[in-house]
Amino acid sequence: MTQFTEYPSFNALTEHFSRINQIHLRTHFAQNPSRCNQFSIEFNNFLFDYSKNHITQETIDLLLKFAEEIELKSLIEKMFSGEKINFTENRAVLHTALRNQSDRPVMVDGQDVMPGIKSVLDRMRTFTDKVRNGHWKGFSGKAITDIVNIGIGGSDLGPYMVTEALKPFNQDGLNIHFVSNIDGSQLTDVVEKLNQETVLFVIASKTFTTQETMTNANSAKKWLCRSMNHADIVNHFVAVSTNAEAVVEFGIDAENMFEFWDWVGGRFSLWSSIGLPIALYIGMDRFDELLDGAFQMDEHFRNVNFANNIPVIMGLLGFWYNHFFQCKSHAILPYDQHLHRFPAYLQQAEMESNGKSVNRDGQVIDYSTCPVIWGESGTNGQHAFYQLLHQGTHMIPADFILPVKPYHDLQQHHDILTANCIAQTEALMMGKTKDEVRQELESSGVDEASINHLSPHKVFKGNKPTNTILFDQLTPRNLGSLIAMYEHKITVQGCLWGINSFDQWGVELGKQLAKQVLVDIDSETMTGQHDGSTQQLIAFYKKYK
Ligand code: F6P
Repeated sequence: MTQFTEYPSFNALTEHFSRINQIHLRTHFAQNPSRCNQFSIEFNNFLFDYSKNHITQETIDLLLKFAEEIELKSLIEKMFSGEKINFTENRAVLHTALRNQSDRPVMVDGQDVMPGIKSVLDRMRTFTDKVRNGHWKGFSGKAITDIVNIGIGGSDLGPYMVTEALKPFNQDGLNIHFVSNIDGSQLTDVVEKLNQETVLFVIASKTFTTQETMTNANSAKKWLCRSMNHADIVNHFVAVSTNAEAVVEFGIDAENMFEFWDWVGGRFSLWSSIGLPIALYIGMDRFDELLDGAFQMDEHFRNVNFANNIPVIMGLLGFWYNHFFQCKSHAILPYDQHLHRFPAYLQQAEMESNGKSVNRDGQVIDYSTCPVIWGESGTNGQHAFYQLLHQGTHMIPADFILPVKPYHDLQQHHDILTANCIAQTEALMMGKTKDEVRQELESSGVDEASINHLSPHKVFKGNKPTNTILFDQLTPRNLGSLIAMYEHKITVQGCLWGINSFDQWGVELGKQLAKQVLVDIDSETMTGQHDGSTQQLIAFYKKYK
């Protein structure tokens, strides 16, 4: 595999970087006040403004050339057309097929997967309608009032994030709860408020073997059996999985299982039947809109030239900062309370995908890959960590995300929220110079000695890069597009770094060792071979448990 450092465009980028990295973003704007026209992309009702970045037209041209040389186009086509690009698991990567609204077939191993997808969607519609209109009854004949999704990772983060984001679409509907952690306090806190007669558990697990999910599911079963016969629990459990055998063995009726397929990666699975809790919460019509929004972004990603392609530009900018500016962290800052789980969702999506250190040939790489993804909804973050964004020693590129219209009628709140979001991007970019600080202090009547004393602390270097993503309103369709935009950015970056974004071997070792530690916790003596520290921790736990 060719190292990216060997591509001519990469060498040109290296040379270009040395020429532009000292130019302040203020200077870029002063030299070209309308650069926002040059560095913005509109998509449906979205505006993606990436003008507050350390780029010139030459930067973008070189990055686009790099994407071309590295054959990004070919990887995109392979993904959409069902090639097994997740080669360490011998799987296609087809979350895009789940939301394919066209009549184009999508082939895996010579078979069109679309009829299977449509049939599961039809079953989801029938089932969710039945639960939502009260025709699905609990064992005592009462309608369901509460859904509890038990799942973890991709079988939790997507549905949880989306149901939080689309709260306004749950008009007088069902209550929804999520249990993911093996920490028994989460399950206890959730179920203690619920009525066994009216609860429906969705056990969501691609493998149906995940320790946390299966332990929680078994405890939920025991909790139900406190007030009903074992045979009656069928009305209170459904499963979402690829493992029909394990589902039936657990005691869930095969009729009440919603399947998906091995070519759906856990972290890209909310579009599959893993989205069942979403559909229960907002209704199947709205779920279809979510799929449609994602499909529209898929079409944009697949068909629009790279210069006007939002996920491609996002991915290239990330590469630019990671590789050349040595930025090791990226902040996701949604200015919408309903998107408060979006940073956590993207942590799995990006870091489980691109947190890799060998390339597709299995060689150890000597450059950094995925940055640490983190964030918080605005304006809470402003009163917590923005100090570091503005005056700390790291350069942290950030995405500001803001819907124009809120769902509440407190317009003044939304104007203030918007003003803060936009002002932060301006402040991060412009900063405040020593002269500006001096002028400000002088005009407030501060004496010379205090000015000298205070001004270094009040200077903002600025020059901090941001993207701003504005859109009309947080509808299911727009949310679908937003999520798909980031999914495709992940694909782009994985391609640039030459890694497989679609496996996740890095989660295995901890799981494996936890099993051995558990054996040692449960046994009289220590059976496992552990290092001294691990041994001490287990012994301490056993002494005081
Ligand atoms: O955390 C590792 C992982 O395999 C994720 O990729 C996946 O989303 C999660 O565990 C849950 O897996 P499952 O759906 O099989 O329970």
